[in-house]
Amino acid sequence: MEQTERTEQPVISLRGATASLGARPVLRGVDLEVRRGEVVALLGANGSGKSTAVRAIVGQVPLTGGELELFGTPKRRFRDWARIGYVPQRTTAAAGVPATVREVVSAGRLARTKLGFSRRADRDAVVKALELVGMADRLKDSVNALSGGQHQRVLIARALAVEPELLIMDEPMAGVDLASQEVLANALREEVARGTTVLLVLHELGPLEPLIDRAIVLRDGCVVHDGPPPEAVGQHALPGHDHVHPHADPAAEPTRTGLLS
Ligand SMILES: Nc1ncnc2c1ncn2[C@@H]1O[C@H](COP(=O)(O)OP(=O)(O)O)[C@@H](O)[C@H]1O
Ligand SMILES: [Mg+2]
Repeated sequence: MEQTERTEQPVISLRGATASLGARPVLRGVDLEVRRGEVVALLGANGSGKSTAVRAIVGQVPLTGGELELFGTPKRRFRDWARIGYVPQRTTAAAGVPATVREVVSAGRLARTKLGFSRRADRDAVVKALELVGMADRLKDSVNALSGGQHQRVLIARALAVEPELLIMDEPMAGVDLASQEVLANALREEVARGTTVLLVLHELGPLEPLIDRAIVLRDGCVVHDGPPPEAVGQHALPGHDHVHPHADPAAEPTRTGLLS
């Protein structure tokens, strides 16, 4: 098995990556590799460059230097975006688009549909993904009628509906109620069990800790740790943690209770 891993191309290979937002250098030489079947946590204080790194990986932020390969293909030649499911970091601004749950999750299948997969298969994948996150009974509801945690589950279902080989999620637990966290941890465990490679941006490991194979810690746009998850990171131990959380509701801040432990 070790031999296979060594000879196989990494799913993500970012080498010496630099990127700027405005005039500000945000990634300052990032090496980040994720091998097939791994579950890697990308950790770091607010502003350390985690979101910028994953947005660079999914092609939303251009690199000013360095190399990015996805599934062994240089990014400029990579076309297989349907192999990747991506859940961006939630913003507090309401989208205000009155889409239904089914519409939002079906949008995740667009890349597949263009490849000529049957609509029946699309419908089934959408329902299956919603079942995984416990939202199948909400298919026809407007996403505006959902709580923050339920909305996040729908966004995760959209990524899962792609049946991705690589799943990238940016702070999926932030601002999510305890029940939704549990559902999400279970859904993620099932994805990992079926071999999906996962890159998770996390502020702290929390309930996902048992799933994590390796942690990469960013500080000021540089990797300062790459190896076993740092100890006590589930307990606010990251350098420069400023204790600001995107939780609107103080009652919805149960992240540190260790759901799976
Ligand atoms: N659109 C933007 N324009 C300019 N600077 C930005 C923008 N987005 C983020 N930044 C800055 O880039 C740095 C890294 O941001 P980000 O990648 O979002 O960090 P993290 O996800 O680790 O909190 C921060 O200092 C942030 O203020
Ligand atoms: Mg971020």
